[in-house]
Amino acid sequence: MSKQKIIVSGMRPSGRLHLGNYIGALQNWIRLQQEYRCYYFIADWHALTTGYEESAEIRENSREMLVDWLSAGLDPETSVIFRQSDILEHAELFLLLGMITPISWLERCPTFKEQLRELEGKNINTYGFLGYPALQAADILAYRADAVPVGEDQAPHLEFTREVARRFNYLYGKVFPEPETLLSKFTLVPGIDSRKMSKSYGNYIAMSATPEEVREKVHLMVTDPQRVRRHDPGRPEVCTVYRFHEIFNQPGAAGVGEECRSAGIGCVQCKGLLAEKLAAYLQPVFEKRRELEQKPEYLDEILHEGGKRAREAAQATLAAVREAMGL
Ligand code: TRP
Ligand code: SF4
Repeated sequence: MSKQKIIVSGMRPSGRLHLGNYIGALQNWIRLQQEYRCYYFIADWHALTTGYEESAEIRENSREMLVDWLSAGLDPETSVIFRQSDILEHAELFLLLGMITPISWLERCPTFKEQLRELEGKNINTYGFLGYPALQAADILAYRADAVPVGEDQAPHLEFTREVARRFNYLYGKVFPEPETLLSKFTLVPGIDSRKMSKSYGNYIAMSATPEEVREKVHLMVTDPQRVRRHDPGRPEVCTVYRFHEIFNQPGAAGVGEECRSAGIGCVQCKGLLAEKLAAYLQPVFEKRRELEQKPEYLDEILHEGGKRAREAAQATLAAVREAMGL
């Protein structure tokens, strides 16, 4: 039997996840568990690169995110689930990779310039923020990953990681594979205002939403703006509610579309139907969260066990790294 391929990926702890995170990234992670040896971690040091002034929130946000991961079906028996700051080897490798990383590689990362511009009010002109891609490379290379599942926005960081791996191997001998980028097949979930669903826009539905919260959010969703009266025919193709039907109400969506076009269904009724489907879809996640909230010590246990397994793997890599460098 060939060795199982290794997958590594991390998420910054942003607190509770929303449906966009769930459909976009998390379900992909869950699928990959069957086939690969997966290392999934809470990137809490990464949260510091732009959020060092709000560091007090990171621990609680990490726990909330972990609960969402487990509620959605990440399995701590199958996958190695851990917290970045528990594995000091990431920091050691970050330091060593820093020695061979040209500053220009960091400065030309598109995310670097973009975020400096976007987070203008924040002082992120820091060494840590500039070094973000090198820390990410260390996260990945510490496990000698074969592949990394990420969204498109992270592709430049993966390219950077391969370049650093190549440079290390060239200088000191081959220690690292060059990890492949596994672009997630993306289903973009709109926010309730039709823009991209995002925490910062406040247009999101939490994946841990209660049925009541789901109903409230669905009723706030924008519809076809030209459909003013009940007997006006609607255009599902421009309607956010319909987009949600397409994602969460299969195979019923096509029927809803026809009923909308023929004015056979009203928007209030259409939203009611969606709220029901969505609540049913999220029911198991919601139940699992409630269960997990009963046993907070279980979360510590998972991080402890996952940390042990991650550390073992990272320590083996770092031993090879020190050896190759002659330390
Ligand atoms: N930078 C990633 C993000 O913002 C999070 C991340 C940190 C990550 N380290 C990683 C993703 C390693 C994949 C692999 O989404
Ligand atoms: Fe949108 Fe449904 Fe109203 Fe049609 S009936 S416009 S799909 S909310």
